[in-house]
Amino acid sequence: MKKFCSEASLILLVSLILTSSFASEAQKCRPSGRIRGKKAPAGECNQENDSDCCIEGKLYTTYECSPPMSTHTKAYLTLNSFEKGGDGGGPSECDNQYHSDDTPVVALSTGWFNHKSRCLHNITISGNGRSVVAMVVDECDSTKGCDADHDYQPPVSYTHLDVAVWKALGVPPNEWGGFDITWSDA
Ligand SMILES: *[C@@H]1O[C@H](CO)[C@@H](O)[C@H](O)[C@H]1NC(C)=O
Ligand SMILES: *[C@@H]1O[C@H](CO)[C@@H](O)[C@H](O)[C@H]1NC(C)=O
Repeated sequence: MKKFCSEASLILLVSLILTSSFASEAQKCRPSGRIRGKKAPAGECNQENDSDCCIEGKLYTTYECSPPMSTHTKAYLTLNSFEKGGDGGGPSECDNQYHSDDTPVVALSTGWFNHKSRCLHNITISGNGRSVVAMVVDECDSTKGCDADHDYQPPVSYTHLDVAVWKALGVPPNEWGGFDITWSDA
């Protein structure tokens, strides 16, 4: 099943507005629709690790595409666990397995995941002055959200990568969370 991928959406919105290259890319990938937030049943949305819960009545934009790829495609990196019992939910979509948080694996937003076409391929993630190679094992769903299948979390942005590779990028634990990076096929 697809990951529960969450993000601190405000930071992303600000960076989308401030970064003009993002704005021009955004024009090439239009929203596919909107969903209206429903209130999660008590205890159903876990807000640990900066997870967002859908707000009742709020409209969330969905995307079936992601911005076009370049040699340094900008994306927003968030923390997720790919382990059994971790915050990512069920086993990974590509291989139906769990992955240790010590292995560099990554989930891509729907357009870049592109119907499993990048499954088990490696990508290079660059940020914080370092690079790390990670294997694509899952999708971050930017087309759906706010239901039990998505842990009552909003759909993720279309520029989203979800990883447990913060250590490899040299980012200290107190800064794990949202981070602007670039990535490319390895
Ligand atoms: C929060 O993240 C930590 C570190 O990855 C993980 O051990 C913990 O299970 C996460 N909490 C939830 C509720 O997912
Ligand atoms: C991706 O990298 C892993 C670890 O280095 C390697 O085992 C695997 O064969 C690579 N996959 C591809 C498709 O190159």
